[in-house]
Amino acid sequence: MQTIGADAKAAGAMSLRSMLFVPGDSERKLGKAAAGAADALILDLEDSVAKDRLPMARGIVSEYLTSTRGGARIQQLWVRINPLSTAEALPDLASIVGGAPDGIVLPKTNSGADATLLDHYLTALETREGVALGSIRILAVATETPAAIFTLGSFAGSTPRLYGMTWGAEDLPAAIGASTNLDDSGKLDPTYQLARSLCLLAASAAGVEPIDTVYTDFRDSAGLFRSAQAARRAGFTGKIAIHPEQVEVINQAFTPSAEEVAYARRVVEVFAEGVGTSSLDGKMLDMPHLKQARRVLATVARK
Ligand code: COA
Ligand code: MG
Repeated sequence: MQTIGADAKAAGAMSLRSMLFVPGDSERKLGKAAAGAADALILDLEDSVAKDRLPMARGIVSEYLTSTRGGARIQQLWVRINPLSTAEALPDLASIVGGAPDGIVLPKTNSGADATLLDHYLTALETREGVALGSIRILAVATETPAAIFTLGSFAGSTPRLYGMTWGAEDLPAAIGASTNLDDSGKLDPTYQLARSLCLLAASAAGVEPIDTVYTDFRDSAGLFRSAQAARRAGFTGKIAIHPEQVEVINQAFTPSAEEVAYARRVVEVFAEGVGTSSLDGKMLDMPHLKQARRVLATVARK
């Protein structure tokens, strides 16, 4: 199963740069988000929706999915359901799978076993609803509980539906009982930097996409751009947005520059001769450089 993700990556399967959260109970925000440039929307049934509005939110999300099912969706449509440990998770799934969402964002996972369990639920519901078997992917929010940090390796091989893994710096401190996720200097405390690094490594080990977490200060576009660029340099392939104005900034940060693309083309050309190692502009090149160059070109081939 690990190789499915790895092959898809090597083949340059489209990865999502920006995934915009939209509270599932707001038709107004849904309309606004649908008109924007996000690669994917995450229609939320979890924390951005008050419990007494959840049935209404399920209705709105389900109707929107159904109205676009089968047509050419210009954006992928994902749904964040409630955690599997709650009574809301199954009713969430039962009300939205018929709309054939592109994927499910699964919050507060404890290990890869949660992704496997969701895989089974989806298989049952896809069968009932006549949705293509295995078509609904999974993005695991993998670092929201302290226990999850110790089982991140278990996502590898958990299910071929696993699209990616993301981390969070908001729910983990709450679960720990920390009063802030920042250190004295205003930087992310080492605990949450660790969560970020482990999520990146675990996603990479599982052959799936590492997706960077939200940048909560949504008025600070410059800070968001720096954060998104740092994430791309580190190996993340996309980032989650919470406000429409963040979308273009993220898309831009995750799009390689013309110089990067030109350089990647030159690297690939060097290896076209069939050599295993070579040099370019006085620097040694070997297989990791070729892999990286192919990845850059795959990102641009998507458009
Ligand atoms: N998706 C779609 N539209 C959004 C949006 C979103 N995530 N966030 C804001 N908008 C819309 C607003 O409705 C507003 O449109 P309008 O003027 O036509 O009403 C416009 O964009 C400007 O919004 P703004 O006034 O700058 O922000 P706000 O104070 O209305 O909302 C938040 C701020 C944080 C509440 C809002 O951005 C939001 O709901 N974000 C998503 C939260 C979420 O899903 N969290 C869960 C994951 S952490
Ligand atoms: Mg949360």
